[in-house]
Amino acid sequence: MDIITTPSYEALSKEAASYVSRKVQKNPHIVLGLATGSTPTGMYEQLIKDHITSGTSYQNVTTFNLDEYVRMNKKNPNSYYAFMEKHLFQHIDIQNELTFIPDGMSTDPQMECSIYEEKLRKHGPIDLQILGLGANGHIGFNEPGTSFSSRTHIVELTDSTRKANSRFFKDIDDVPTHAITMGIASIMEAKEILLLVAGANKKKAYEQLLYGEVSEDFPASILKKHPCVKILADQSVLDTSSIIA
Ligand code: GLP
Repeated sequence: MDIITTPSYEALSKEAASYVSRKVQKNPHIVLGLATGSTPTGMYEQLIKDHITSGTSYQNVTTFNLDEYVRMNKKNPNSYYAFMEKHLFQHIDIQNELTFIPDGMSTDPQMECSIYEEKLRKHGPIDLQILGLGANGHIGFNEPGTSFSSRTHIVELTDSTRKANSRFFKDIDDVPTHAITMGIASIMEAKEILLLVAGANKKKAYEQLLYGEVSEDFPASILKKHPCVKILADQSVLDTSSIIA
């Protein structure tokens, strides 16, 4: 794993955006895997700035999002569909039909998982997958204990994840109990992975990722087995003495 540490969240966001936009410029037909949550929002902001100032085009870019809540209407501001529109898609020249997000409102969520895998097979593989890190080591919504061989599936969210995500909702009871997520094996098929880690609440998880063993009890640990992973971590997850950029 290639690790770059940055002095601030802003620096992390700029570094991540510059990495992604260079990849898009180099390969205008790139397939990107995208994440939601607080961590990548700064990167998306920088990508929008770059699109406006440098003209980086997303006309031929395909995107796959990691996950979506089950029984969450697209129009609900807490849906990941709405998140992506707000934080990225409505600001760039991406084609709607080339952006894929699991359909949380499907009447048959199980079938939706198979359909999503089929889309990944058809349009993939993902060239560059962006990931955030859950405080309990989850990636996408793959909670501790998820099989490393899992494909896109329905998950019951842990109490700790629902609590962590309740900051976006009025009440914790409004946080959905289930989600559809790309599986760990689906994520690991990406040619390259960019993991973003920011915020003091990720310090423990970051340390476990670096120094712990590879185990299904800590889903992100599988990334150690991927041939091409880049980690961008900001100061808040580090000892200040180890900052190098
Ligand atoms: C969420 C999302 C993940 C995200 C992670 C960390 O629940 N499903 O895709 O990477 O948890 O979120 P945050 O960046 O807000 O800490």
